Amino acid sequence: MNKAEILVLYYSMYGNTFKMAREVYQGAKEVQGVSVKLRQVPELLPEDVLQSNEEIRKGKEMQKDVPITVIDDLRECDGLVLGTPTRFGNMCSQMRNFLDQTGNLWQDGSLIGKPAGVFTSTASLHGGQETTLVSIMLTLLHHGMVVVGIPYSSVELLSTNTGGTPYGASHVVGIQQPYQELSQQEKTLCRILGRRVADIAVKLKHT
Ligand SMILES: Cc1cc2nc3c(=O)[nH]c(=O)nc-3n(C[C@H](O)[C@H](O)[C@H](O)COP(=O)(O)O)c2cc1C
Repeated sequence: MNKAEILVLYYSMYGNTFKMAREVYQGAKEVQGVSVKLRQVPELLPEDVLQSNEEIRKGKEMQKDVPITVIDDLRECDGLVLGTPTRFGNMCSQMRNFLDQTGNLWQDGSLIGKPAGVFTSTASLHGGQETTLVSIMLTLLHHGMVVVGIPYSSVELLSTNTGGTPYGASHVVGIQQPYQELSQQEKTLCRILGRRVADIAVKLKHT
């Protein structure tokens, strides 16, 4: 039987959203009958800006082996999990820019009926995780995707006092270096999201 292809696609400047993406990737991989790709969207910041900050340099170094996505990754996937740091309560411009290049996919209906989940990181607890997660969904809905959240049967949703929402996985990184590592609950919820999108993708592919 053909494997369902899951695309975990993210942007990360300091590496925190990348750490989430790795957990989502692992969660998706736990599902039988899938192959999982981890990809980052192209950077838009000028090289001198990237090089001028040590924390950005460290964050980028962590991700140096993750391939940059191409539009065909989206076209070919059976399930998608999209992650972005929160920027003023919204997705980052790198992700917006990439999604704004998907007009052809919209025209062809290439993403219609495919499941998609979302994740984000913020500096502060009330810095806009939910607005970011929900606003990414608007684009996914325009593409006709089947939006997948995290159900409250995931007990971590009730016990977390950092990130983790029914709209998708999230992580509070704090404002000071060193950034807060993913809590056990945040990590588990990333994995649950990856697993859930993969599981639904397998079912939809073979019905
Ligand atoms: C331009 C800009 C806007 C930001 N806006 C927010 C925000 O609205 N709320 C918040 O909590 N954090 C905000 N942050 C902090 C980022 O969300 C945080 O640095 C990010 O989650 C780290 O992810 P990364 O390590 O994957 O880059 C902002 C950061 C930048 C650079």
